[in-house]
Amino acid sequence: MTLITGLDIGTTKVCCFATQRQPDGTLQVVGYGVAPCRGVKQGQVVDMEQTVAAIQHAVHEAQTMGDVAIIGVVVGVTGEHIESIQRRAEITITRPDHEVTQEDLDRLRFQLQQIHLPPDRELLHTLIRQYIIDGQSGILNPLGMSASHLLAEGTLITGGMTFLQNLRRCVERAGLEVQAMALEPYASGLATLTPEEREIGVALIDIGGGTTDVAIFHEGGLAFSSAVPVGGNQVTRDVYIMFRLADPQEAERLKHEFGSALAERVPETERVSYREMGTHEERRVPRRLFTEVIEERMREILEFAREELERSGLYDRLAAGVVLTGGGSCLPCTAELGRQVFGSLPVRIGAPQLLGAALPNALQRPAYATAVGLAIYGAQILLDTHETIAPAHLWKQFVQTVKRWFRRNR
Ligand SMILES: Nc1ncnc2c1ncn2[C@@H]1O[C@H](COP(=O)(O)OP(=O)(O)OP(=O)(O)O)[C@@H](O)[C@H]1O
Ligand SMILES: [Mg+2]
Repeated sequence: MTLITGLDIGTTKVCCFATQRQPDGTLQVVGYGVAPCRGVKQGQVVDMEQTVAAIQHAVHEAQTMGDVAIIGVVVGVTGEHIESIQRRAEITITRPDHEVTQEDLDRLRFQLQQIHLPPDRELLHTLIRQYIIDGQSGILNPLGMSASHLLAEGTLITGGMTFLQNLRRCVERAGLEVQAMALEPYASGLATLTPEEREIGVALIDIGGGTTDVAIFHEGGLAFSSAVPVGGNQVTRDVYIMFRLADPQEAERLKHEFGSALAERVPETERVSYREMGTHEERRVPRRLFTEVIEERMREILEFAREELERSGLYDRLAAGVVLTGGGSCLPCTAELGRQVFGSLPVRIGAPQLLGAALPNALQRPAYATAVGLAIYGAQILLDTHETIAPAHLWKQFVQTVKRWFRRNR
């Protein structure tokens, strides 16, 4: 059995999502596991031991649920160290038949990657958005077509080498092989956006615990990506500090129970009770006041995200609007606040979906968009090679296939 497993190592939790690819290319859920983790902050490993333990825990849960052995994983990466570069490259095909071969595509990809990367940067993805054959744009796979001039447009995603190495080391210390690394908002987009949205232009904003990832999909592919170093944990922290709560867990609980991204949506008469820091005495504040603190930070997060979208130069191409995902988007009224911040753009909350298969209820939540998307990404790697994989003994071959794909895609 060939497993394709996404491993999302987030600021608040590690989620392991194991699937099996069916002969028709769809994914069937095998098992999943979630473990709280405080070892990674904004995409950067800050406590290796804790991260390794959380990975082992989540993977163990998924293995037990599915009665399988997970060997390799597709790992998500994010953080301010991620950069995207728009590129175009062109080759000429002079052979008499002008037929585009795999070698031509490899040559073109290689051309696209010819940029000077500082020694501390690593190329993570080469995402080709479209090919242009003799001036005709919008070609997705030119293999076998006839062309004299073949042009590719795409995005190079790079990451800070140290950040990526530390993440890899955590996964390896947990006894797993890193089959591939993928940009988290890209993965979240694969799980929450429809192909139509990705085609006509959409922004994906993943509000996590420590980071808010921003990505723009246009003409079917990733056109821009960025990360804002603020997330839902900052909202919790504001509540904790402003009201001098007895402990941070209480702030998290109150946020879940009484929080709203729009204070005006909360009845004026309601009150929230909590224990105060130091005295542990019970205090009561108007729920409106409580949610005003939350709204202020949520608004700031979305405004930061909008600034990133504007910086991309693609803000006016977002015909499908904005899709909010990640645990932070579960706060009531977040989509409504989004509509205020993004003006005329449509805004919706995106929960993960698995094409052709049902996701367990527990995973149908925005917080699991990245883990689900990482598995979808892993499956795309397989589809791209057009190889059919048989069970167990061909595992090694699968790993080779993935490695080959990744070498080609670097
Ligand atoms: N129902 C909810 N209401 C309000 N906030 C929520 C809810 N569920 C989750 N959150 C918030 O979502 C955040 C965690 O989101 P998520 O699980 O997507 O983060 P992560 O992937 O661990 O972190 P990151 O992506 O930043 O590395 C926390 O701040 C949490 O308080
Ligand atoms: Mg996340």
